[in-house]
Amino acid sequence: MEVLETGKLPNHVAIIMDGNGRWARQRGLPRIEGHIKGLDSVREIITVTRRIGIPYLTLYAFSKENWSRPKDEVQRLLELLGLYLEKELPLMMENDIRFNVIGRTSDFPKRLVRQLNDVMTKTKRHRSLLLNIALSYSGRQEILDAVKAIIKDVKLGKVKRIDEKRFSTYLYTGGIPDPDLLIRTSGEMRVSNFLLWQIAYSEIYITPVLWPDFREEAYFEALREYAIRDRRFGGLKEV
Ligand code: FPP
Repeated sequence: MEVLETGKLPNHVAIIMDGNGRWARQRGLPRIEGHIKGLDSVREIITVTRRIGIPYLTLYAFSKENWSRPKDEVQRLLELLGLYLEKELPLMMENDIRFNVIGRTSDFPKRLVRQLNDVMTKTKRHRSLLLNIALSYSGRQEILDAVKAIIKDVKLGKVKRIDEKRFSTYLYTGGIPDPDLLIRTSGEMRVSNFLLWQIAYSEIYITPVLWPDFREEAYFEALREYAIRDRRFGGLKEV
């Protein structure tokens, strides 16, 4: 496979899955149909990521701001998430995939929180792929939560010196390497409060493809583009 031959795969891919609503509207369908179709893309992208050996994948599934959508859409999305967890647990068990949630899940109905915790517990020893799902997530909130937690530890005398490395361990993603590649579907040129600290040096790839149409081929296109990018992390090009 061409993309693998380059030998330069990202270690961590983060994706803003956007465009489900537009996909449905273009077909005269209710928005929820776009989310349902979007789940097929979620499954395919997870499967491909695992197959080609990228060890970290983070998907933005529900932002803190998404709570302001019509009640009915929010409820259907939460239902979908519950169904997804039920259906996909075997895939995670068979493929050594560890499921992890980042965000304020305490905002969710208790039954769903129990389900999320259950899947995290059952998959916690898996090592081939760490799948992070961002739920009720806000990058600014994450940074504030980290600031509050670190202040607490400073007061307790557990932290003497605050530097970038130490601070990042207080984020929801503590211990997880920063994304090398951030993909956004549906053409919007925004970061939308996603992983604000962690994407400082990520390569950004924006495709007009809507999330329900974002499948293996579109993903490989993003990975091929990543493979030819010249990452300098603010330094100079090697000569
Ligand atoms: C963006 O499309 C998508 C979302 C807000 C939800 C993404 C959720 C899923 C793909 C399903 C659930 C996910 C998991 C991991 C179980 P949009 O509604 O903002 O589309 P639009 O911008 O075209 O309106």
